[in-house]
Amino acid sequence: MAIIYNENSREFHLHNGKISYLIQIMRNGQLGHLYFGKGLKERDSFGHFQQYAYRDMAPCAFADDYTFSLEHLMQEYPAYASADSRYAAYDLEEENGCHVNKFVYKNHKIYGGKPELSGLPHTYIEKEEEAETLEILLEDEMVGAQIILTYTIYADLPVIARNARFICTGEQPVTLHQAMSLSLDLPDKDYVMLDLAGSWGRERHIHERPLDVGVQSIHSMRGHSSHQFNPFVALRRPHTTEHCGEVIGASFIYSGDFLAQVEVDNFDVTRLTMGIHPSGFDWKLKKGEAFQTPEAVLVYSEEGLNGMSQTFHTLFRTRLARGVWRDKERPILINNWEATYLDFNEEKILNLAKDAKELGIELLVLDDGWFGVRNDVKSSLGDWYPNLEKLPSGIKGLSEKVTDMGLKFGLWIEPEMVSPNSDLYRAHPDWILANVKKENSLGRFQYVLDLSKKEVVDYVYGLLEKILKESKISYIKWDMNRSLSESYSNGKPAEEQGKVRHQHVLGIYDLYERLTSNFPEILFESCASGGGRFDPGMLYYSPQGWISDDTDAVERLKIQYGTSMVYPISSMGSHVSAVPNHQVFRKTSLETRGNVAYFGTFGYELDLNALSEEEKSEIKEQIKFMKEYRSLIQKGTFYRLASPFEGNITAWMVVNEAKTEAILGYYRVLQPVNTGFVSIKLQGLDEEKLYRIEEENFAGYGDEWMQRGFSVSDQASGVMGRYAKTQGDYFSKVYHIVAE
Ligand code: GLA
Repeated sequence: MAIIYNENSREFHLHNGKISYLIQIMRNGQLGHLYFGKGLKERDSFGHFQQYAYRDMAPCAFADDYTFSLEHLMQEYPAYASADSRYAAYDLEEENGCHVNKFVYKNHKIYGGKPELSGLPHTYIEKEEEAETLEILLEDEMVGAQIILTYTIYADLPVIARNARFICTGEQPVTLHQAMSLSLDLPDKDYVMLDLAGSWGRERHIHERPLDVGVQSIHSMRGHSSHQFNPFVALRRPHTTEHCGEVIGASFIYSGDFLAQVEVDNFDVTRLTMGIHPSGFDWKLKKGEAFQTPEAVLVYSEEGLNGMSQTFHTLFRTRLARGVWRDKERPILINNWEATYLDFNEEKILNLAKDAKELGIELLVLDDGWFGVRNDVKSSLGDWYPNLEKLPSGIKGLSEKVTDMGLKFGLWIEPEMVSPNSDLYRAHPDWILANVKKENSLGRFQYVLDLSKKEVVDYVYGLLEKILKESKISYIKWDMNRSLSESYSNGKPAEEQGKVRHQHVLGIYDLYERLTSNFPEILFESCASGGGRFDPGMLYYSPQGWISDDTDAVERLKIQYGTSMVYPISSMGSHVSAVPNHQVFRKTSLETRGNVAYFGTFGYELDLNALSEEEKSEIKEQIKFMKEYRSLIQKGTFYRLASPFEGNITAWMVVNEAKTEAILGYYRVLQPVNTGFVSIKLQGLDEEKLYRIEEENFAGYGDEWMQRGFSVSDQASGVMGRYAKTQGDYFSKVYHIVAE
């Protein structure tokens, strides 16, 4: 791995054998972009990658060169109000209202390792040799401001992590109206844009569109990354599949408003930008003050979408997620939400705990309803002290009782919110993130607390610290159940209001940081009305997250498949729930519900006390299976094999690092009649090794399983059919594959 600066050509080459990233200091001192993609051999200059042409109407920088126009050159971090009329990476305004500026190269630093981003989630390293970093300092002396662009390349991963920092150095303040974390110009438009879109209950469905001239974008202006779009976009070549072909993935390590936009200009040059959504964002900087953008991560793969996802999985599982739980096997849990909703008391919870223990479950999670007078969702958020009518021995007593039974105890909180009907709201009505003099929307009967104010963060922290200190708590489910809407910070001056939504996110990160560092043994799981904030920012604090409130096994195929585009299996909270399912009323077998939920952090979300003896013994077997294979499933290399977005069959598999063991999940939604065999081509095996598929009691070499595939016939063909017992809709099977 090396970052090279070539003095003669004034070019930077970041490369690690797998990828190359090329930046040029252009003739006018600004930064041009030359290339991002598969690794290239170093040479004297790559300047020929920049495309110069005379084009009518284009404003030009030099009287002697009508081919040098920012409107057509590939740039590294383009400015608004310049000769470039495409969408910019940043917009900076001086006190006199002038948006025109020209940040030119001043100097640079190249060093081993990767710097921290204080107060913001970011990827990290454990040893200096894991990565190398380039910082380029740009300056506009007339404006009195600097920009530092930071790029880190990992030695063993096809990854570039980027961010930008703006510093006011002059006497006059400047105001940022836009500050994206990345801008990437690509010389053609021969791509399909892939993003993860949906809504509550159907988060992160795969969505694709071929690029075309103009702008295509996804965004959130909800104050959280949202159910609707995820802060991720991939540009794949039209022929790229799951297993081969080129793709560039971009992920934004942030949990608030974002914009991910792809603009294709009229000459087919593509510009990808990603960062905090500029709408409503205004950040004034006085002399000496700086604004730091969050980090964005670029991944390149020539091994298809699976190759891209595997890089994200490795990076996010091992160099974004942190803490003692990062590498540990995740506990199998029972959550009482779909078992009792808010209608519970200590006795009911202890009864659940008793059955849970007998079945082999390791953790009992007490969900919403344990605090204030919360008997419905209309009250008490903010009053984080136990409801003694429901729980006479409090959380302290209950957690001790559950722990004494040999289970760990976990608790639900929603610390960013306040109910109008709460002691907290009555005491501090101006702590909501809305103008208290106006009419404001309620979402799920609640307001958002203004965490842009430190005193509010301190207050919430104090209440939570007390419970965590006095009780035996091993796990926290941190929920967030409404979007930001009419946000306004009461008491702050006008010039501070454009900062508030980002400061609010920083407040959430601060609260998370304090809780996770002061209670390092606690496993945190993030949640936002299901998967409304399932993003890399959250993963930095909580190594797992609840991916959706939709717990139906068939719906989950799409949600888990889509989520796996970016996020590791170890991060996906997935539970077996009751039938008929509470969201879609579908009845699936316990086996299929388990077979889907295995590919995540496993648990149950149903009334264990209502189960038959037969169901209990099946659950015991599931738990036994998961305990045996969770390490392989949660840490192995994951391959998507057949997509639920393309047909009736879904298949995926995980393979261990040594390629000696794998687990295959096969799912068929509807039962066809008397059709042919389905051939599933396995991936990631060693061609030379002989693998036995235990359930079939048949062995074949890795190359056979991968080239010819594994033939499944579960098609109905009368009572004599081989799979007669498993015929019917929503069939699934999990196969254990071992090298002999
Ligand atoms: C959200 C979560 C659920 C549950 C409820 C409790 O909807 O996603 O899992 O915790 O809140 O109110």
